[in-house]
Amino acid sequence: MPAFHKQRINAYRDEMVAIIQSVLNELQINQPADIAKVMRILTMRVATKTLFGSDVGEEGGSSGRLLESVGGLLSNSKTSLLPFDIPGLHYHQMLNQMALVDEEMLRIIRQKRARGTDDGDVLSMLIQARDAETGLALTEDELLGHVSVIFSAGHDTSANALTWTLFLLSQHPEITANLLDELESVLQGPPTVEQLQQLPLLERVIKESMRILPPVPWNARVTSEPTTLSGYDLPEGTEVFVSIYQTHHISEVYPNPEKFDPKRWESFEPNMFEYNPFSAGSRICIGAGFAMMEIKIVLAMVLMQYRLQFLPNLAVERNGIIVMSPKYGMPMSVHKQDRQFSLGVGGVWGNVREMVQLPQ
Ligand code: HEM
Repeated sequence: MPAFHKQRINAYRDEMVAIIQSVLNELQINQPADIAKVMRILTMRVATKTLFGSDVGEEGGSSGRLLESVGGLLSNSKTSLLPFDIPGLHYHQMLNQMALVDEEMLRIIRQKRARGTDDGDVLSMLIQARDAETGLALTEDELLGHVSVIFSAGHDTSANALTWTLFLLSQHPEITANLLDELESVLQGPPTVEQLQQLPLLERVIKESMRILPPVPWNARVTSEPTTLSGYDLPEGTEVFVSIYQTHHISEVYPNPEKFDPKRWESFEPNMFEYNPFSAGSRICIGAGFAMMEIKIVLAMVLMQYRLQFLPNLAVERNGIIVMSPKYGMPMSVHKQDRQFSLGVGGVWGNVREMVQLPQ
């Protein structure tokens, strides 16, 4: 857990800014780009760097690319429909890729362990962690498990939060104009950790985006003893699914729930049963602080430099089993920030319209 304490997270800021800028520099002005892909590359590079430090290259290393491909196979319905280890099937391919991921991660873990230094990254901290009672270090298998979970949980989620937010902003020109006004009144360049506290509209935009299109739309628990829930008797071992998405669209809690309205957060403080994009309770997302800082910095840096224009007449469909992503990516044309926010508004079709009100 110390790797995710506030002080430690703040120390990741400079590295984040450098990686974000190097990815944004690859965007070509007046050309279309799949913003979903750009955000994935960006958060993957941030995750690999903060996780493994200098043990992976600037590009995120082969570990990043391998995990990407496992992630793709994992969320492919063909993998879950035929879960058999038979050559030619997606499931077989996924198992092979996972073995390669393990191999690559073990190589990094062994290399770092042998050096025995604290490089300031998450893996260094996990290697040095000792059980308070037994004094034992994590085994290689435990390290492998933690690193894979943190990597997977820590980049696709933030990438989709960013993609959905940029999409929502592209369809709400007035909110985007107000947000840019706020950013320009506080910032001279990429935000510092202190400046992130002075951007209330940015915070509300992200909160509202994760309310209306939560990157993780559901989670689950297993009952550890017999219990009763809303009049239903649940024996021990029952799987209970919680819809974060439905919770965030309850009209008694959120009037006009399909309206993207960051203003609603000016006077509303929900409890953890009403708003839980990072889940709640003792297993709440360990990376929530990290994610909020990363998302804020990326949005500020993107908006201050570029205007992303939605390409009309494209379908935006929800997709994914664990993380909700746009099925066909998010193609947008990239422009220097010229405040022409009304361009590219409308012309969206697809089932995203069931989740959020959008202009025609
Ligand atoms: C917008 C971004 C993110 C969202 C929406 C998100 C959401 C979630 C949710 C809903 C859970 C499930 C918790 C439960 O079962 O109740 C979770 C768990 C987790 N998340 Fe995140 N997450 C995000 C970013 C991150 C980042 C950046 C990291 C790490 C760098 C991270 C690491 C984890 C880990 C390790 C867990 C498992 C925690 C446990 O079981 O104790 N997440 N996250």
